[in-house]
Amino acid sequence: MGKYIIAGNWKMNKLPSETYDFVKEVAAATEGAKCEVVCCTPYVCLAEAVKAAKDTHVKIGAENLHFEDKGAFTGEVSADMLVDLGVDYVIIGHSERRQYFAETDETVNLKTKKALEKGLIPIVCVGESLEEREAGITMDLIAIQVKKAFAGIEAADAKKVVIAYEPIWAIGTGKTATAEQAQEVCEGIRKIFAELYCDKCAAEVTIQYGGSMNAGNAAELLAKNDIDGGLIGGASLKSADFAVIVKAAQ
Ligand code: PGA
Repeated sequence: MGKYIIAGNWKMNKLPSETYDFVKEVAAATEGAKCEVVCCTPYVCLAEAVKAAKDTHVKIGAENLHFEDKGAFTGEVSADMLVDLGVDYVIIGHSERRQYFAETDETVNLKTKKALEKGLIPIVCVGESLEEREAGITMDLIAIQVKKAFAGIEAADAKKVVIAYEPIWAIGTGKTATAEQAQEVCEGIRKIFAELYCDKCAAEVTIQYGGSMNAGNAAELLAKNDIDGGLIGGASLKSADFAVIVKAAQ
């Protein structure tokens, strides 16, 4: 299916002063990786991360961006700023941002368009809560999230986007979706993408699973047909664990 991408999401962890050495450690531990290896770091760590990743296979991503080009938006960071630093990827619409920072399907769409316009690769997160899963509306909800995220985006651009399926109830809880549950939704996302664009586009797009993916369960999840990688929180903070996940993806 899509190109395999294993991306770490550091969230609000690690200091700028720890970043250079840690990214070097990740590069060494994942040397020879057959998939794309990405570290998404806090804004303040990005410059050091990019410096450390230079001349290695590791790519660097941000965890958010603003959708405007520039101006009076105190505390915000633009796509141009990320590009200027040498950042390649950006996470958009993570459930923690939707939950705690009022991110909506509309802002996710605006941010995705801006990232694409500026040449950043968006990692767009979608996922249901436990209540929504128990109500049996998982796929309906995911369809809305995906359709809104991609509104107004042409196929040529849409294929560049990475979609991360992250069930909210599995994030940071140690409760992973079963490989079957994850596969079912990732397959559903690919079908929605095929309806929006084309079968070939859907076969090329990268769909990740995220939510307590770790060194112990990665192989089983990544063996599934429609899971082309992972967005890894906790396990991306230890280079040895992260490296096991990267190996499982090849
Ligand atoms: P987790 O986080 O691996 O710690 O569950 C995943 C994510 O939120 O991207």
